[in-house]
Amino acid sequence: MALWVIVPAAGVGARMGGTTPKQYLPLAGHTVLAQTLLRLAQLPGLGRILVALHPEDPCWHAQTLPAQLPLSTCAGGRERSDSVLHALHALQGMADDQDWVLVHDAVRPCVRLADIERLLQAIATHPCGGLLAVPVSSTLKRSNAVGDIVATLPRDHVWQAATPQAFRVGALRQALQEAVRAAVPITDEAAAMELAGHAPRLVRGSGDNIKITYPEDLLLAELILAAQQRESASAAG
Ligand code: C5P
Repeated sequence: MALWVIVPAAGVGARMGGTTPKQYLPLAGHTVLAQTLLRLAQLPGLGRILVALHPEDPCWHAQTLPAQLPLSTCAGGRERSDSVLHALHALQGMADDQDWVLVHDAVRPCVRLADIERLLQAIATHPCGGLLAVPVSSTLKRSNAVGDIVATLPRDHVWQAATPQAFRVGALRQALQEAVRAAVPITDEAAAMELAGHAPRLVRGSGDNIKITYPEDLLLAELILAAQQRESASAAG
């Protein structure tokens, strides 16, 4: 059974500011997106990586990626869920509905392969699939529109969802189609699966799988990649 990967990369990154979408900002000698793809391409059993791009993407062709990477692109959509759904449609004919597909944000270049492998092991016998996530450690506050606290929220059993999120190709396509049809806003694949009545498994991942959202996150990602490189060099030697 092949493993398929979808990388939604069609966002404009409004919270980052600037004119270049955040997935194309430079990071440790590549772009954020290229770093993410180079990492995912090392997954054992990989069939193909589908990258969903903005229809007017100006940067993809300037990416310097090895020609042998099993990459295909498709047009993204208005929302992240539309982009993932387009990629799932593009997979039809290649993937079997029972195959696993990993959906991973283009802007999480620091994901550890070992975490992805743990995720795949953890869901191998699960009825629907699961995702990497981190238990919330800070106290959570809800604010009003001007930023004053209106409530302190209990944080027991509260997790921050990350990616990859791994589901069966057919079940995820169906869940996302239903969510789009019902016009329910969906910010990750697990939410679509939940809406369809499933209970995805949360698998604890490393806290350094950050999502690049604000300008300061780029520096942090640079430091994390350098630390991970030192870690693997010392493990190898
Ligand atoms: O905007 P946000 O940070 O939640 O985006 C998460 C991921 O989804 C990013 O990799 C972004 O490029 C992608 N995305 C997409 N299509 C959209 C919006 C976001 O592929 N319409």
